[in-house]
Amino acid sequence: MCGIIGYVGRRAAGPILLEGLQRLEYRGYDSAGIAVVDRDGAIEVLKRRGKLAQLTNSIGVMPNGGSGIGHTRWATHGEPSDRNAHPHTSSAGEVVVVQNGIVENHRELRERLAQAGVRCESDTDTEVIPQLIALALQRGLDFSAALRETLDQINGANAVVAVWRREPERIYAARRGSAGGIVIGFGEDEMFVASDLAALLPHTTQVHHLEDGDIAVVGVDGVSVSSRGEPPRQPQPTEVGLDPVAVAKGSYRHFMLKEIHEQPRALSDTIRGRARLSPPTVLADELTISDDLLRAISRVLIIGMGTSLHAAMIGRWWIEQLGGVAADFDNAAEFRYREPLLGPGVLVVSITQSGETIDTLGAMREAEQRWQSPQLTICNVPGSEATRIAEHVIHLRCGPEIGVASTKTFTASLAALYLLACRIGRARGRLSEAELADRLDALLTAPSLTERGLSAGDACATVAERLRGAANLLVLGRGIEYPLAMETALKCKEISYMHAEGYAAGEMKHGPIALLDDSFPVVALAPRGPLFDKMLSAVQQVRARGAPVIAIGDEGDAELAELANHFIGVPPAPPLLSPFSLSPVVQLLAYHLAAARGLDIDQPRNLAKTVTVE
Ligand code: AGP
Repeated sequence: MCGIIGYVGRRAAGPILLEGLQRLEYRGYDSAGIAVVDRDGAIEVLKRRGKLAQLTNSIGVMPNGGSGIGHTRWATHGEPSDRNAHPHTSSAGEVVVVQNGIVENHRELRERLAQAGVRCESDTDTEVIPQLIALALQRGLDFSAALRETLDQINGANAVVAVWRREPERIYAARRGSAGGIVIGFGEDEMFVASDLAALLPHTTQVHHLEDGDIAVVGVDGVSVSSRGEPPRQPQPTEVGLDPVAVAKGSYRHFMLKEIHEQPRALSDTIRGRARLSPPTVLADELTISDDLLRAISRVLIIGMGTSLHAAMIGRWWIEQLGGVAADFDNAAEFRYREPLLGPGVLVVSITQSGETIDTLGAMREAEQRWQSPQLTICNVPGSEATRIAEHVIHLRCGPEIGVASTKTFTASLAALYLLACRIGRARGRLSEAELADRLDALLTAPSLTERGLSAGDACATVAERLRGAANLLVLGRGIEYPLAMETALKCKEISYMHAEGYAAGEMKHGPIALLDDSFPVVALAPRGPLFDKMLSAVQQVRARGAPVIAIGDEGDAELAELANHFIGVPPAPPLLSPFSLSPVVQLLAYHLAAARGLDIDQPRNLAKTVTVE
């Protein structure tokens, strides 16, 4: 969602802020802005609706100054416009703020400000923050106290970064709740603040994450952090191991295409060292969860949002079949507002590539605080909030995922879930040692299944060209391919803006079939497996209504190919592993559909990579 960058040091801040914002573009945004502070405290604010290039092109002379803050905004309160873009200033312009999150009680705070004679200029919830800080400063508070008092008046999870005219060589950063993290970067005679490690990587890998309730005062020579009621401390940085080179797009046209092709490596990295065949062991060295606990649980609940929820749905199959324990999945945003009846006997597994999705974090906190459920998270971002809430973590090893549409983190999450299912199954006696070895042996083929699936790229491009004019798409699957049908439809919606629905094929005749005619294409995910005949009969029902069928099935499946209008072959997968061969194909289909429609694939409209608002 929104991105934040801040800089204080000996270099010119402007270009560093703009470059940092460029690295945050992948999070999705609809306006951008920077504020640069010179040595005398003069602050210049530049902001524009639209892409960062529009802001950069609008800058005639780069403002002079060695500190500043920048922001990419994804509109929540007030339309995307120059006026609503961050940074926002107090009326006299002395306090300048960028924010991630939502000020839930902004109306009430605006009224309070109005009573004090302060008029807000923008439609945003954010603007109340600099205005309230300025009022507190007028009463003689120092900046940290004014910021803390302001945050105390605000409802909602927020990350706030501010500069003040009176202290041109300082940046203030505060974190309330989990509206995305704030990370402080340590350089030589310079310091950085960012919402996201990606913005810091060219400059430093020495970082410190702020905790909920922290306020940091960042100067050229370091940072001082105070938590409520505790004396300020100077935290030591820790080293993060992300490779800046991996952030670059390389020779691919889009990050999404690059990341689709990185899947075999991401899978190998995620499985490496975690699945050993002799003697058969799984997640042996790192999973802190005990076999006693895995034996004691009565249920596993897997939660996530979007693509991560689809991974959860597939994970349920594995945890039930291989783990031998009841398993369910839930949409994290719905879960947290239900009466889900958990308890210490329910293992809650959360999936979140970013580790910062507010719905998922909210559900995790609910499970922890209200139900004391043991928690394991599957996450791609070390140090993210999810990894700090959950006691047990399986780290994905995908490297940064930049495309808004998740691809490699999806298949890597699947690998992690399969490993977990095997571990549960072994602990509970569902899998014998030999069966575990067989299952792990099968999983070790996942990278090559995915690799071979990638070779369907040309076939996907051909089919996409034929589908580009269609208004709708129905995607059908059964069994373990049903969640993948939903994921295919999500990918098509996200990047090609085509209306697409994923359905369990058995459900089609209970309603959706009424939609079908010769203008309504249907994608059928139909590899050979226990439910293949039922898929075949669904395809026949579709054809009988004149709808064109794109069948994705096992290479050389003549029966399916003959029934379909278009056929895309994938390598036959061992039992339960078809998601690894099918995922790259459906991702490529969605990718080529968006490419054929000439769309902005890495930054689709209205979407954000990390969704830090409810
Ligand atoms: C995936 O393509 C989407 N961008 C989106 O559905 C995403 O999966 C969802 O927002 C959850 O994100 P997370 O994995 O970072 O929690």
